[in-house]
Amino acid sequence: MKNLKDLFEHQLKDLYSAESQLIEALPKMAKTAKDSKLKKAFESHLEETKEHQKRIKEICDELGIKPTGEECKAMKGLIKEAEEFIKEDAEEDVKDAGLVAEAQRVEHYEISGYGTAVRYAKELGHDDIAKKLKKTLDQEYGADQKLNELAEGRLNKEAK
Ligand SMILES: [Fe+2]
Repeated sequence: MKNLKDLFEHQLKDLYSAESQLIEALPKMAKTAKDSKLKKAFESHLEETKEHQKRIKEICDELGIKPTGEECKAMKGLIKEAEEFIKEDAEEDVKDAGLVAEAQRVEHYEISGYGTAVRYAKELGHDDIAKKLKKTLDQEYGADQKLNELAEGRLNKEAK
């Protein structure tokens, strides 16, 4: 990598891998969740995540690069942790609260990645691409906020 453009492209590929892995993992989390609102939150974020993946593919097409070829090791680790948690022997309410914790780790990681990508896109003069990435970033913030509300409003109390 020689410059910010190369670094930007590397980050996009990393995000593409992260989103692709999450598309595989979210149905398992939705299936495990007992609370109907939590289940719905995972299902609706799955639909958003498919949009995110598509958006990165479109951006890569625009830039004339392939979105594939990188494996996001951090997302792989976060998902592995979530999958191990799913297998834990835990009370239903405790499991739901823990699923929120696992999912928020993922969201925070994505928020960090997209925040960087938006800044790089702007710096490189790709204003339309920056707007697309910002749209995803806002949806990641929204998903995180929804999880916060579920945890604070009910799930943590039920686990207690
Ligand atoms: Fe996403």
